[in-house]
Amino acid sequence: MRWKKTVLAGACAARATSAALPLIAHEDGMSGSVSVDASAFGSAGDVRFARNLWQALSDAGIVGDDAIQTHPYAGSSKHGPVVQYIDGTVTVGDYSGTFITKRNYRGEDISVEEIFADPSSHFDSLGVMFRREEGYAPDSADWFWAKFMPDGTVATTPDGMSMAGQVAPCISCHQPADGEDFVWGHDRFSR
Ligand code: HEC
Repeated sequence: MRWKKTVLAGACAARATSAALPLIAHEDGMSGSVSVDASAFGSAGDVRFARNLWQALSDAGIVGDDAIQTHPYAGSSKHGPVVQYIDGTVTVGDYSGTFITKRNYRGEDISVEEIFADPSSHFDSLGVMFRREEGYAPDSADWFWAKFMPDGTVATTPDGMSMAGQVAPCISCHQPADGEDFVWGHDRFSR
């Protein structure tokens, strides 16, 4: 296991503002104020891109067995899950873009200390935002969204849709974030 020695600026910002975030569960429910096309994600092309994105993150040491670990903190969910945040730049194909990953931990009464001691325990899933080329998704700040299982497979919704691309439940819950950047924790990627 590798630990990053310094806390990333992004992790700091997310922790600093998390108290002010709305008390909502980081779940995949379809609720949200924005109308987004629920059939517009999970195509073969979306899944292919998500697999390439996972590979790029894995090559960069962000995901996978030997992934870099950042300090876990309590997420804003009312169920109190623990999360880890990391951001940076990776290249997918010939395009380099900003990524944000969020490791989600779930379990009865889990604590930050417990996950700090053993980040492989209770690791539930990984949410990723990857900023694509300008114009990819003008209504949602050009982010590509994906949810992965710990082994890197793309997660699916209860009705079997692959959670990659313009994933409606992710977008609708992230839309109200300040800065019109769809990022809750900070506005560093606002433009
Ligand atoms: C019910 C609302 C909700 C849904 C649905 C949701 N998120 Fe989030 N997400 C949040 C909130 C609130 C935060 C910030 C607080 C935290 O980290 O817990 C966040 C944080 C994140 C972050 C860190 C960057 C940021 O915005 O602060 C990523 C990456 C992320 N989510 C990805 C996803 C992906 C991918 C999906 C869909 C699979 C998704 N989220 C679905 C509410 C949601």
